[in-house]
Amino acid sequence: MPDLPHSVPSPTAASPGMQRQFEIYQLGLAGKKLSVPIPVAQLENKAAEVLPPQAYDYVAGSASGERSARANLAAFDRWRIVPRMLRDVSQRDLTVDLFGHTLPAPVLLGPIGVQNIIHPDAEVAVARAAASLGVPFVLSTVSSRPLEEVAHAMAAAPRWFQLYWGKDHELTASLLQRAEKSGYTALVVTLDTAMLGWRERDLQHPYLPFLLGHGLANYFIDPVFCSRLPQSPQADPASAIRLWATLFSNTALTWSDLAWLRRQTRLPILLKGILHPDDARLALDHGVDAIIVSNHGGRQVDGAIAALDALPAVAAAIQQKMPILFDSGIRYGADAIKALALGARAVLLGRLYVWGLAIAGEQGVRDVVQNFLADLDLTMGLSGFRSVRELDASILTREK
Ligand code: FNR
Repeated sequence: MPDLPHSVPSPTAASPGMQRQFEIYQLGLAGKKLSVPIPVAQLENKAAEVLPPQAYDYVAGSASGERSARANLAAFDRWRIVPRMLRDVSQRDLTVDLFGHTLPAPVLLGPIGVQNIIHPDAEVAVARAAASLGVPFVLSTVSSRPLEEVAHAMAAAPRWFQLYWGKDHELTASLLQRAEKSGYTALVVTLDTAMLGWRERDLQHPYLPFLLGHGLANYFIDPVFCSRLPQSPQADPASAIRLWATLFSNTALTWSDLAWLRRQTRLPILLKGILHPDDARLALDHGVDAIIVSNHGGRQVDGAIAALDALPAVAAAIQQKMPILFDSGIRYGADAIKALALGARAVLLGRLYVWGLAIAGEQGVRDVVQNFLADLDLTMGLSGFRSVRELDASILTREK
């Protein structure tokens, strides 16, 4: 039997997917493995093993019968890529332009709150992993580490801030000023969470991390928030948590409030949670900079349209007048390709990277994201495309 090679030649950087495959096989030759399982189903199973049940359910769960979450995944199966051949795909380009910046790939790490219930390094681990890859990280309002600390961990790497727009306008203005000052370059305003959805798993435990004081770091150091309290959140956490619960959500907001928000920040504003084409048109009319088609991973409205199924009509309404981003159900490179082909400029990862965080912290997130990017690169090339800019609906067919 011939000797097994102890190393394998590395392909060129023009093929990040092949590069990643070789890295993984090379590790195998050295008797090693990545920090995380590679099959997505195993990744989630492993996270379920290492996380306390309440934390796992908080992430995995969604609204009521969890039908929107299942629909999100099923929607991808109804679209099929029709690969093209003999088109010289030796040089591939995953970059996209957004708000005057070039991203290395059409991928961001989406806002996921309260990450300290997943891993002690929480958002700082995710921020470092994102920064090392040049992939933007969208930090949640309800992060467990203050936005300033996360910004510091990212140095000059790209980061966006996600806003939960609560009742206290002065507090909202303060959060926005802090985010701008800390180098966040876009504002994602999440519209679908004026209340929390009916989440059976969390109610069954019963477990809501915020009521234990998790995920409130941005509030507890905010001067406006603290000015509303007789004592500091450190001295009297129970009162601070109660105040947060009264201010967090604002069910009275309407489209006309966007004018106020526009006056508070110079950052590009993206509206997250758009599903209806009429809302997409309203977003255009109200002068925002982009929208994110999302159903919050199915966590808000049970029985909602799958996010991917909402995308074509939204794209038709927008007519390329502003960028559309997409999340909810992205698990594989092919999913991203389908969303891009149906009109998205970029996609946001959610639960996928959280499983990596649960299993192996910063390295786990980096491994999951690198695997995803490799899958995206290879699937694009094997489908006959050199650039994500070439993708449009003509590359897809819809299953009957
Ligand atoms: C979320 N999501 C979310 N969105 C947001 O705007 N602010 C937030 O703080 C959170 N927090 C959050 C926590 C957890 C545990 C999950 C699973 C999701 C929604 C998130 O940004 C994204 O829309 C979904 O995660 C996308 O669905 P998939 O791909 O994760 O299924």
